[in-house]
Formats: sequence, structure tokens, C-alpha cells
Amino acid sequence: MLGEVLEYLDPKPGEKFMDCTLGGGGYTAALAERVGKKGLVAAFDLDNLAIEHARKRFEKNNNIKIIHGNFKDLHKIMAAGESAEIAARADSEIPEVPVFSGIVFDLGLSSAQLEDRRRGFSFQLDAPLDMAFGQRTENAKRTTEYIVNRYPASELARILREYGEERFAGRIARAIVQARKEGEIKSTGELVNIIGGSVPAVYRHNKKIHFATRAFQALRIATNDELGNLENALPQAVRILKRGGRIAVVSYHSLEDRIVKNFFKTESRNCVCPAEIPVCQCGHKAVLKIITKKTVLPAAEEVAANPRARSAKMRVAEKI
Ligand SMILES: C[S@@+](CC[C@H](N)C(=O)[O-])C[C@H]1O[C@@H](n2cnc3c(N)ncnc32)[C@H](O)[C@@H]1O
Repeated sequence: MLGEVLEYLDPKPGEKFMDCTLGGGGYTAALAERVGKKGLVAAFDLDNLAIEHARKRFEKNNNIKIIHGNFKDLHKIMAAGESAEIAARADSEIPEVPVFSGIVFDLGLSSAQLEDRRRGFSFQLDAPLDMAFGQRTENAKRTTEYIVNRYPASELARILREYGEERFAGRIARAIVQARKEGEIKSTGELVNIIGGSVPAVYRHNKKIHFATRAFQALRIATNDELGNLENALPQAVRILKRGGRIAVVSYHSLEDRIVKNFFKTESRNCVCPAEIPVCQCGHKAVLKIITKKTVLPAAEEVAANPRARSAKMRVAEKI
């Protein structure tokens, strides 16, 4: 969706942008090229490897500031002076004066993470059960291993159903609970076998989508609290955006898209009182104008070149 992101954010020389999901650095590099030497791109990622890789890749780019952190703490990190350099170069005090002309979120996981053999994102590689974007120890009760081995069946089923839209959530959850009576489930390979053994044969042999896809997605979302992070980050992003600046969010999951859609909708209204209240009591003021009435989808060529892009959806709003 890079082409679409650039079209809607329209970066110009000298402007400042924030890429909340640096990943392999594709968006950051394109933004940096457009804003030029006098501009700035602040790029966030939680992932150590993404940060290490970007530090090397952008070693000579003085207009890129790489920040290792969770975008749910966007405002705190900016205010804490991790980015004092940005504040100085922006001739303003972050966070009081908004400085960014555009902010982008390209959610989910990167290809590098998916293909990393040491991590448990892929059901095709046998690895320890760890789907954390950041440090594994961030929240001891939310590691994939903890969720799989300790959560009650009902909670496991909810995660699989809600975050994975998994039809066989109940069956898989019960099979996991049954299997762990024999001993801890330690690897993605074991988990794939348990899932495979619990779903009907037609589902197991489905050629279009691997039977473990939805369960793995659900566990990743739960491990990283991906929906909570997004909900927390959006209002903070608007705070540091200039008037006329734009926020673009590329999501890959209907729940993420719903969060973005509802946030944009609420923040583009002057009153959010329930319909039955005749006179406004909330005093809510619109801060955004919705730019994309419908989601923007990737072009057919992009989907052909990168099948993972098929579920991408972008929404854009402008600060007023
Ligand atoms: C789809 S990739 C981004 C790809 C990127 N646009 C590129 O051009 O390579 C998403 C990235 O966001 C990071 N990420 C996910 N949640 C995050 C969070 N809460 N805070 C910071 N980074 C996060 C992941 O670690 C991953 O590297």
C-alpha cells in the first residue's frame, strides 16, 4: 500500500512524518526520500531486529530518527525526550506543539518476522511458542506460551473466535487444554499438530487457507495486545499531528479496521451524545475530517506480487 500511502499523505520537502511501524523500512525510506534533507521521519518499532536492521540501513540518513518502542506509548516516549533531537530539529516542544505533517501505521507483522526461524509466528516453521513483536518478557502473563498453557478453555476459545474468526474455536481450545494435561506445549509444531487433530478433515485439507492460520493470527494478536495498542495510539497520534496533517492506517484485520473506522467517525463529529438527548451535553469537538469514505484497497498488481497484501485496507483522516 506504499503508493496509496504516499498519494494520501503527500509528503513534501522539509516536512516531518512519523512511521509508527518501521518494519523493514520501506515506508520510512520512501517518506525520507520525499521530505529530503531538511525534513524528518521518526520511525517506531518494537522489534529489536527491525531496529538493528534499520540502524544499519539508515546509518547515513540524517533525516531518519529510529525509535525503539511501542506505539501505544507514542506520546510518552516523545515527551520523555527519547526524541529530544526531533523536538530540537522541529523548533518546537513536543508534545505541546504538534509537528507532524503525517503519521502512518502499517499494522501487523513484517515478512522478516514471519520468516524468522527463531520465532513462532509461522505455523510452517517449528519454533518456540513466542509471537511477541518486542521483548518476550514485557508481560509475563501474555506470552504465547503462557496463553496456550495457562488460559482456561473459555478464554482460549474467545481469543480464537474473536481475533481469528476461527469456526472451530471451541474444539481447538478444548484440544489444547486436553493436550497440556500431558505436559507443557512448547513449540509451534506441537500446537499445529493439536490444532490439526481437533478440526474436521475437510478443514485440515483446505487448500486455500492452512488450518492453523486463524489460530496463529489470534494468538499473535492476543500476545501483543494489538487491538489495545492501536486504541491507545490513535488519540496520541492526533495530538502530535499538525492541522491539515494526515493520519493513514493500513490494517489487515476486520477488528483493527473497525477500531480505526469508529475512532475516525467519533473524532470527526462535533457531538457524540446519544441520539435521544436533544441538546448536546458532551461538548465534544471534531478534530478530524475523514478523507477516505470507504477503505482504500491494494491494487490487483500488488496483491498478485504479494499475496499477504490481499487483506490490507487503508483509512485516512485529516486533522482540522
Ligand atoms: C507490516 S510491518 C511494517 C512494514 C513496513 N511498513 C515496511 O515498509 O517494511 C509492521 C511492523 O510494526 C511493528 N509493530 C507492530 N506493533 C507495534 C507496536 N505496538 N509498536 C511499535 N511497532 C509495532 C512490527 O514489529 C512490525 O515490524
